[in-house]
Amino acid sequence: MIKVNDNFRILPESYLFSEVAARLRHFKEAHPEANVIRMDIGDVTRPLVPAAVEAMTEAVKEMSVSETFRGYGPEQGYPFLREPIARIDYQERGIDISADEIFISDGAKSDLGNLGDIFGPGLKVAVADPSYPAYVDANVIDGRGGTLEEGRWSDLIYLDCLPENDFKPSLPKERPDVIILCYPNNPTGASITKAELQEWIDYARREGSLIIYDSAYEAYVTDPSTVRSVYEAEGAKEVAIEVRSFSKTAGFTGMRCGYTVVPEALKGRFADGSEVSLRKLWNRRQCTKFNGASYIVQRGAAALYTEEGRRQVRESVAYYMENAHAIRKALREAGFEVTGGVDSPYVWARRADEPDSWALFGRLLSEAALSCTPGSGFGTLGQGYIRFTGFNSAENTAEAMSRLRKLFSATVETAE
Ligand code: MLT
Repeated sequence: MIKVNDNFRILPESYLFSEVAARLRHFKEAHPEANVIRMDIGDVTRPLVPAAVEAMTEAVKEMSVSETFRGYGPEQGYPFLREPIARIDYQERGIDISADEIFISDGAKSDLGNLGDIFGPGLKVAVADPSYPAYVDANVIDGRGGTLEEGRWSDLIYLDCLPENDFKPSLPKERPDVIILCYPNNPTGASITKAELQEWIDYARREGSLIIYDSAYEAYVTDPSTVRSVYEAEGAKEVAIEVRSFSKTAGFTGMRCGYTVVPEALKGRFADGSEVSLRKLWNRRQCTKFNGASYIVQRGAAALYTEEGRRQVRESVAYYMENAHAIRKALREAGFEVTGGVDSPYVWARRADEPDSWALFGRLLSEAALSCTPGSGFGTLGQGYIRFTGFNSAENTAEAMSRLRKLFSATVETAE
């Protein structure tokens, strides 16, 4: 029999969102009549924006005749998408990123996992607690986890996110080689100012660390003082990779398209001490293991950069943000301590009388047919919290929040 990667043996049995989905399936089997409203995984519900649909329809037509048919595309992505990204997402905001520093992919999650391919052995990785579980799991699969002790991996460095620090961790005491940051944050919804980001960049420059910056939710930023790109900080191009996604803006969770920025100025070292460009390594990795995102999907993504596409994306984001605001308000009224939902579609909440995340998840599901994500699935410091997403229809959100109010009204009245 084949010898397999032992790291899978130490990895928890299932991935957080698969576990939530499995519990929902069991609940629905036992209660087929229940109309469960899902506010767990951050999966969009609105259809694709029309600009993308039109562009992809055209692309399908192109693919259906020999004159315009296309086979393999460039592994890095087509210039018709890389160029507007560089111009609109960066240059027009005063950030000097060029099209050839942008790598189109089949989504942020793949890139966040795959980036590990370019790291040397034994690197120390710092992750926030709580954080998006793929960061931790991918590093464990690659052998950078160590052993699991009381919910924490011995070889990872944890950055504590607590109400006392507004869920924004301090700089680590022990030096990490790689620091994974996510702002606006999943799951807490915390956002970061330019001055706060600058501290991380200065730290990384001083310590020779690499920052992987997940900004999948940057389109949800409404506060002008909140950072949207890591490259807004001075010197970030020498220490940071940025990962972005079209999933949550244009409804691409099922289409799969995102991009990663690896600036030319970013350097690493081989074991013999010689310097190498990380952009070059990532390009080499992609050429070997990836044949590029689908032409049709890239055409759809490029349409998001037209005036019409940009307006439609803004509308979609605003729609989900209305939901997030409604969730925030309802949770507060129901006696929860609440954060997030301002520059982020996620709302992070807890109640003093419900200390266990999975128990609260179970209660909401069985008593209100409402599903959320248990905070403990994002890390030990998520225990007691639950996360709601604004990704649903306004009608479902209103119904969900009315169920929630009803469920907790007795407790709130008693408390008053
Ligand atoms: C989440 O719910 O945290 C995200 O939607 C999951 C993802 O983007 O993969």
